[in-house]
Amino acid sequence: MNARSLLADAEARLAEAGVASPRVDAELLLSHVTGVPRSLLLVAARPNDLQHRSYTEMVEARARRVPLQHLTGSAAFRFVDLEVGPGVFVPRPETEVLAGWAIDQAQGFVAQSFNRQWEPRVVDLCTGSGAIALAIVHEVPGARVHAVELDEPAYGWAQRNLSGTGVDLRLGDAADAFADLDGHVDVVVSNPPYIPLDAWESVAPEVRDHDPELALWSGEDGLDAMRMIEATAWRLVKPGGVVGVEHADVQGESAPEVFGRRWADVRDHADLADRPRFVTARKAH
Ligand SMILES: C[S@@+](CC[C@H](N)C(=O)[O-])C[C@H]1O[C@@H](n2cnc3c(N)ncnc32)[C@H](O)[C@@H]1O
Repeated sequence: MNARSLLADAEARLAEAGVASPRVDAELLLSHVTGVPRSLLLVAARPNDLQHRSYTEMVEARARRVPLQHLTGSAAFRFVDLEVGPGVFVPRPETEVLAGWAIDQAQGFVAQSFNRQWEPRVVDLCTGSGAIALAIVHEVPGARVHAVELDEPAYGWAQRNLSGTGVDLRLGDAADAFADLDGHVDVVVSNPPYIPLDAWESVAPEVRDHDPELALWSGEDGLDAMRMIEATAWRLVKPGGVVGVEHADVQGESAPEVFGRRWADVRDHADLADRPRFVTARKAH
């Protein structure tokens, strides 16, 4: 069977299973199996029998709503690729905007410093696969990046992704992490768990059945972790430092309220789909 027919069958199977982007997923899986870039599949992919069988198995797994990234083993995030699989949250495109904000802030501290020699200190709380921390070391040369993760399996993935990067990765609870850095951090960034416990029904099967529970749920209103991050950031950030935290699209008012009591410049930001997505604030001098 040629690539065109294989893709057409796979697209139909994935659409029938309710996969949100059946054509894209069919192409990415075929590209993964054959090693042919996605844009060249129709002209260059000639799957042999083994590749054909392996592709059929992967399409069936995707139709059972196994996340695409668990099948390919990697997730793209800004300019880096993360190894992912069972036991770790798959980084999402919306978090790339938050990471971009943290990168801009860190670069801003460098630009404002004497001789532009400042090595900004950045902390990624709830790092999961290490996505935000890895993007920051990649895009901000000289940044001193620290990251913490509570869940041991996720921490194992972060170790793999951050090995050799110089990121100070620790296993532990963000609530009491990095006491040694209190008052010395320029930027705190976090994509914590934030789904309200009663939102179970509305969550896609890929997320509900494959992302770790500790990565998803966060108390009745989904803001338990947000309140914990606010307290940790207040302890870590130096006067003039900043914090940015991702939240659910329904928390565009309730998340900024968590920061309203003692932070300056509290602002909410939209993601690429223009939905409320993360809150930022500054600790006044
Ligand atoms: C939504 S996932 C985000 C992971 C990563 N930051 C990303 O954007 O892909 C949240 C992560 O926070 C971790 N986590 C939850 N509670 C934590 C805590 N108290 N301290 C540290 N990590 C925690 C979870 O295990 C999970 O890996």
